[in-house]
Amino acid sequence: MKVGIIGCGAIANIITTSIVPEDNGIEIKYFFDKDIERAENLASLAGGVAVLDFNEMLDDADLVLECASPDSVKKYAPVILEKGIDMIIMSIGAFMDIDFYNNVLKIAKVNNAKIHLPSGAVVGLDGIKAVAKFGLKEVSLVTRKSPKSLGKDIDCEEVLFEGKASDAVKEFPLNINVAATISMACNRDIDVKIIVDPNVDRNVHEITAKGDFGEFKTITMNYPCSSNPKTSMLAALSAIRLLKSFNETISVGM
Ligand SMILES: NC(=O)c1ccc[n+]([C@@H]2O[C@H](COP(=O)([O-])OP(=O)(O)OC[C@H]3O[C@@H](n4cnc5c(N)ncnc54)[C@H](O)[C@@H]3O)[C@@H](O)[C@H]2O)c1
Repeated sequence: MKVGIIGCGAIANIITTSIVPEDNGIEIKYFFDKDIERAENLASLAGGVAVLDFNEMLDDADLVLECASPDSVKKYAPVILEKGIDMIIMSIGAFMDIDFYNNVLKIAKVNNAKIHLPSGAVVGLDGIKAVAKFGLKEVSLVTRKSPKSLGKDIDCEEVLFEGKASDAVKEFPLNINVAATISMACNRDIDVKIIVDPNVDRNVHEITAKGDFGEFKTITMNYPCSSNPKTSMLAALSAIRLLKSFNETISVGM
């Protein structure tokens, strides 16, 4: 499987340097970034090809992995899916725009392309998906961030946002991927609280789900990527796992 990457930052670096062709025949071949130097650096590290225009990868790539920005999803995903090329999308917050989501879904269906959204920086999506249509009554997410990660200097915790995921995306477009992923996993606009907490030095995500099945709570305490403190290491690792799963015979816990 030949893979093209859009966005050669923290996530792309971890994925590219962790995957070798022996991993179920995955070849990360094409690299595109609006900063061509980043694409060239990663391409030379991986023995791949840096492209000046993302269209250059579309004649050969079997799958395009987006790890750039929500804007890039809006710009490139419709073109890629129209060509029937599958995608992995990391900037899941882009799908909180319902009109865009519906349009992209239509394009993917018509052209027989698949869109894969990794679990990203949070655990518990397997359970959320399992119970989504079976009496799930309540799903909420509490995200705690360090003051440093938000460029703040405070002594007491402060609630930055409390409301629905669809509103959180408008105020925190770069921090909404987890809320967006959970919302999509259970097909509802979940309750979100974002707290800046001087007692944490990592991004902490607490999911609570209640319903006819019972109740569960997951807590994910993420170490950041060294090259981008806003991004959790786990997000990149979840994409690696997803990529490797495509050619596996047995899938566990999906
Ligand atoms: N799903 C999740 O749980 C999750 C977790 C962390 C990060 N993310 C998202 O993944 C994306 C990548 O994260 P990262 O930490 O690697 O970011 P990063 O800032 O380290 O790297 C992003 C790269 O994409 C490039 N880029 C941005 N917009 C572009 C565009 N329109 N066209 C071409 N290149 C573009 C930038 O130049 C940069 O090199 C972000 O959108 C981030 O919000 C998702």
